[in-house]
Amino acid sequence: MSNHKYIYSFKYDIHNTHLCKLESRQLFNEEEQHKLLFSNSKVDPSISPFIKSRFEILSSSEDYSELLQKIKKANIHIDGFKAEYLVLEGDSTKYPERLKKLKDIGYCIEGDPDYTTPSIIYSVCNYKKTWYFGFLTKHNSDWFKHKKKPCSFSSAINMDIAKTLVSIASKGDKSIRLLDACCGVGTVMLEACISGFDIEGCDIHWRACKSARENLAHYNYTAHVYRSDVKDLDKKYDAAIIDLPYNLYTFSNNTITLNIIKSVTKLTTRLVIVSTSDIETLIKKAGLYVSDSCTVEKKGKKFARNIWICEKL
Ligand SMILES: C[S@@+](CC[C@H](N)C(=O)[O-])C[C@H]1O[C@@H](n2cnc3c(N)ncnc32)[C@H](O)[C@@H]1O
Repeated sequence: MSNHKYIYSFKYDIHNTHLCKLESRQLFNEEEQHKLLFSNSKVDPSISPFIKSRFEILSSSEDYSELLQKIKKANIHIDGFKAEYLVLEGDSTKYPERLKKLKDIGYCIEGDPDYTTPSIIYSVCNYKKTWYFGFLTKHNSDWFKHKKKPCSFSSAINMDIAKTLVSIASKGDKSIRLLDACCGVGTVMLEACISGFDIEGCDIHWRACKSARENLAHYNYTAHVYRSDVKDLDKKYDAAIIDLPYNLYTFSNNTITLNIIKSVTKLTTRLVIVSTSDIETLIKKAGLYVSDSCTVEKKGKKFARNIWICEKL
């Protein structure tokens, strides 16, 4: 039986395994295993592209009837609830049996259920012969609407990576200030805004800034975009994301890369750096310590993206 407060379930394709594990290390200080993680950390599942749901454990028992007794004893009176069965890795309970268990749970709760727009979801699941009852918070997939953002360009980062960059940089803390130092058309900013993070963007190129502002306005987000060389920005942030230029839209070389990294180091102490080339030596040259990293190879794409999590020494 687990003494943890939460059970997280994950969903990701094989090519995102390393990215999901990196995110898991940053958000929970440990890796998910077999798309499952028991943890005491409370994380909003919707900030991650990979977390499917968070199950908050209210009671548990190895004996199913004892679990039902415990739920009854809790005297839950609530209208507008829904009960869902959460199928976890290794649970072979068949569909009819799962339905029966949902009914059992429903009968333990006083109040009118609401199956279409519930205000609360209660859930039951089984893991390694233990039954758990709790609240279920599901991933909100509203962010998929960003697929249809009005402006894009060839250097724009994938939405799932963009979303992970925000969760990694913030470690899930929505009270901190973030900077997207080379924001391009604002892909990272959109993912920060939809999850309620405080973010600002900066780009040297007027067209990129115009597109980022247009994209943000399209979804009624109010985050600010500075049209500036990041070296001229005079602000402080808790963490910054740098999706470095890679010779497609703008020219880049080691000197330009090093200057961008050094400039951002003056604005924050925590940096999440993305590059298509191996620039770890440059990162260290900029006086940064790499605390974690991973490489994401995209299906059907010729290049991989490297992600480094860096702290100022
Ligand atoms: C790889 S793109 C970023 C793409 C962005 N993440 C997106 O999804 O749209 C790199 C961006 O860095 C910008 N850039 C290059 N040098 C810069 C500098 N010194 N200061 C600010 N932005 C810079 C480029 O104009 C380009 O838009």
